[in-house]
Amino acid sequence: MKSVCSQCHSRPFVDDEFAKGDDLTQAVNAKVTEAKDILEKLLNDDLHHTQAFRCPIKYTAFDLWHHYGRTAKFGGWMQGPDYAQWHGIYPLMSELAKLKEEAARLREKNAARGPDHRRRNRSREEHIMSGNASSGSQSSAD
Ligand code: HEC
Repeated sequence: MKSVCSQCHSRPFVDDEFAKGDDLTQAVNAKVTEAKDILEKLLNDDLHHTQAFRCPIKYTAFDLWHHYGRTAKFGGWMQGPDYAQWHGIYPLMSELAKLKEEAARLREKNAARGPDHRRRNRSREEHIMSGNASSGSQSSAD
């Protein structure tokens, strides 16, 4: 790729552009990893569902990495500072702040409910994951 760019641009310019792109990618990945770690800890403590899009925090996490993270990276690599900053990094950081608050709220809510609720929540989740939930609703319609 660099050899293509070097047909028109100087090599130091090309190297510098690629280095800036890599820096941005790593900065975005670090924030996404931070969010992923928060979610994984919640999951380890049985504090959120394993299924995608079951609760608000999953949407926050998805928007953060899939929408804003991607926009920031594309914006950076494609010379679009407005996309890198205002449509990318800025909302990504705002979603990360929201995710931290949602995680703290889940922990508080759960602490108030006590350990029994967590166990019930987990067994209900396993029930749904094994497909028994739909057969349950079918039998009630019969
Ligand atoms: C066929 C020649 C050509 C090739 C190949 C080329 N560029 Fe360019 N590039 C230009 C020209 C001409 C401009 C200036 C366009 C303008 O200012 O309107 C430019 C502008 C840029 C700018 C904006 C510079 C600034 O200060 O605004 C960047 C960054 C850039 N190119 C990166 C790359 C990269 C990375 C590649 C390889 C993937 C590449 N270019 C391949 C000709 C080329």
